[in-house]
Amino acid sequence: MDKLQAARWQDNHLQLLDQRLLPQQHTYIDLETATDTARAITDMVVRGAPAIGVTAAYGVVLAARSAYAEAGDNWREQIQAEMKILAAARPTAINLHWALVRLEGLFADLSGNPEAKLLEEAKAIHAEDIAANQTMGNLGAAFFADNTRVLTHCNAGALATGGYGTALGVIRSGHAQAKITQVYADETRPWLQGARLTAWELLYDNIPVTLLADSAAATLMQQGKIDWIVVGSDRIAANGDVANKIGTYSLAVLAKHHGVKFMVVAPLSTVDYDTPEGAQIPIETRPESEVLGVFEQHIAAEGASAWNPVFDVTPAELVDVIVTEKGVVENPTREKMAALLD
Ligand code: MRU
Repeated sequence: MDKLQAARWQDNHLQLLDQRLLPQQHTYIDLETATDTARAITDMVVRGAPAIGVTAAYGVVLAARSAYAEAGDNWREQIQAEMKILAAARPTAINLHWALVRLEGLFADLSGNPEAKLLEEAKAIHAEDIAANQTMGNLGAAFFADNTRVLTHCNAGALATGGYGTALGVIRSGHAQAKITQVYADETRPWLQGARLTAWELLYDNIPVTLLADSAAATLMQQGKIDWIVVGSDRIAANGDVANKIGTYSLAVLAKHHGVKFMVVAPLSTVDYDTPEGAQIPIETRPESEVLGVFEQHIAAEGASAWNPVFDVTPAELVDVIVTEKGVVENPTREKMAALLD
């Protein structure tokens, strides 16, 4: 069993690795309905844009199962309500919407029980995501010189995708090619994806990692200890503006100031050509409790309130390269992003 599988279809239902419990506990949760799947996405049992997309695709299979059992050939009407619940589970990661649209595109041609065909498509989405990550791993690592030192933020690894990872896929490939001498990971407050998930994933693959408080990244760059910042994305606008975990924008500004290169790694399913610019990307705000404490423990002064936007937008002009499975875009512009579709 691969410990690094965020989502898997097993025994005819969906299983999600509960990322809220990692790295202390490694527990899979069974999901039998689309509504429970949507709640698991909202509650961060599974997180990371491509992993959310894969999970939503399997959620549609579960929705189709109950819709056909209850409504027979009228399953199409019934499934829409559950797809709306899935679509609303988290607002920023476009992969969720992308996966739902892709499955809905099959509905017109399906007759009888749709479950088997939708499952086939969900598995294809899953497999394609892993293949895209492996391709991007090599495309991204090609930018690294020997003895490269990288910094990553949040978790854009196997746990955040179908497998292998986007930013961590590039770091995995660069490490396998013996080009990387040092990996730093921001701990990524408030949810600590870096400390809990990225560090765990890298160590699982025997890739040494050094954690730092998010606020230490500036000093690391000032001391000349970083060559590349490598991150994933939740949504890339048509002009190349990049939404990713809160703190990514400040890293990009710092990188520009210190002459550090900035790479974004994301499959085409993360590029939202219907959103012209980053300012139009919906940014999720999560509960204040995530900032006021660490998991169940309240830390902040009693009575303090908190602001918790969990993504930010990095303008395209701060990005050196966007790596997709269809090719790389250096110094992204709207025109270069559009050319990826050719
Ligand atoms: O809130 P999360 O943990 O879902 O945020 C995840 C990120 O911001 C990742 O960097 C992004 O989804 C890219 S994952 C390949």
